Amino acid sequence: MKASFRIWRGDARGGDFRDYATEVAEGMVVLDAVHRIQAEQANDLAVRWNCKAGKCGSCSAEVNGLPRLMCMTRLSDLPLEEPAPGGWRSGTSSACKSSASASSASSARTSAT
Ligand code: FES
Repeated sequence: MKASFRIWRGDARGGDFRDYATEVAEGMVVLDAVHRIQAEQANDLAVRWNCKAGKCGSCSAEVNGLPRLMCMTRLSDLPLEEPAPGGWRSGTSSACKSSASASSASSARTSAT
């Protein structure tokens, strides 16, 4: 199944939402999907994470309007049938500004296509 993500991309000058679609599979979490998008479509996308175990908080983000840890938020728990209001937003921006050309994964809505 393919899911759609609306991801906030930004840098020091500002930013906007961009839409991505990627394959998702059973057991994936939001962070997995964002990493897939990063690997396949947006290799300048900066995504902050560390433990992938819900311990460090580095991957905190606003997912479909609610604060979440991307590594602990299963896609199966999200309404992928249609985009949710709000979106997700990175908890911090420091990792998003790791280089001048990098932009951040800081906000998205999900839906299946
Ligand atoms: S990567 Fe550490 S809490 Fe998600």
